[in-house]
Amino acid sequence: PAPPGIPHYLTHADLSAKEIYNLLTLAIQHKHNVKYLNKSSGAPLAGKTLAIMFSKRSTRTRVATESAVAYLGGQPMFLGSQDIQLGVNESLLDTSKVVSSMVDGIMARVGSHSDIETLAKYSTVPVINALSDKYHPTQILADLMTLHEIYVSQPSSPSSYVAHQTHPSKTLPGLRVAWVGDGNNILHSMLATFPKLGVHLNVATPRGYEPSEEIVRYAQTEAGKTNTELKFSFDPKDAVKDADVIVTDTWISMGQESEKAQRIKDFTGYRVTSQMAKEGGAKSDWKFLHCLPRKQEEVSDEVFYSPRSFVFQEAENRKWTILAVIDALLVKKGF
Ligand code: CP
Ligand code: NVA
Repeated sequence: PAPPGIPHYLTHADLSAKEIYNLLTLAIQHKHNVKYLNKSSGAPLAGKTLAIMFSKRSTRTRVATESAVAYLGGQPMFLGSQDIQLGVNESLLDTSKVVSSMVDGIMARVGSHSDIETLAKYSTVPVINALSDKYHPTQILADLMTLHEIYVSQPSSPSSYVAHQTHPSKTLPGLRVAWVGDGNNILHSMLATFPKLGVHLNVATPRGYEPSEEIVRYAQTEAGKTNTELKFSFDPKDAVKDADVIVTDTWISMGQESEKAQRIKDFTGYRVTSQMAKEGGAKSDWKFLHCLPRKQEEVSDEVFYSPRSFVFQEAENRKWTILAVIDALLVKKGF
């Protein structure tokens, strides 16, 4: 097993609120430095390599990771499932020992969450979860960063990005997020994160698509410590009541393609539309987030392409948040 003390990033259940805020403030600072001050990183990863082992497709996570490593002066090494023996012809244990002996960090997108736990257990370098069937933590960092940017008061000039001047602990606690959709890896990551930060979460899933009981229990315990509200329902209109933000995701996650017809039937009534938000009593200025890729079923165009939708800013923020995670683990050596 890995020597003790190697920091991994597998789920926010392993991190404190302070550590999550540290990652957010680092991401916000990087965005400011790169986009608005045009600052170089000083190449702290010169001569270092991040192995990017993905067993599933990716647009955002891959582009964010490769460009973030390049910015830090390191070498991103993309290894797709056709390229290496990722648990197919060689065990994950052996793969982890071999790959980690030659690189400085591993970012992995896997099927079963136990796969990333195995990689981390036997790796001699930090392992970052780039999505598993249970969690997608880097996505939730981008969501929180986007919410911070939305709710921090912005001056009108585009060059005066002020998000870095306000701590996200001033903007995020007290927000009410409604999840309308599948009890999947994205919802699990919100459950592992939001209660710690005091972000209220209203959840609606169809029957049979509830989030994992173990993660719900964890979220309830954390919510009890911070006085955060957590609500669960089978009716999207209950969830959107008083929501500042409505979030959904695809109804058919990667690997569930054969269930498509059944799922589309079971998610009837779950499409996010202006009418649903209005009838359910969302705040009049509610905002919309979606991790992407988006399918037509789960959200109407009139919401997805409207000024309330921050999905493309959220996608861009994948870069700044992943940059922060890599900087924390590979350069600063901790959160
Ligand atoms: N949101 C997200 O993880 O997108 P990709 O699958 O394209 O990386
Ligand atoms: N729930 C989706 C998220 C994709 C970024 C999936 O796992 O496919």
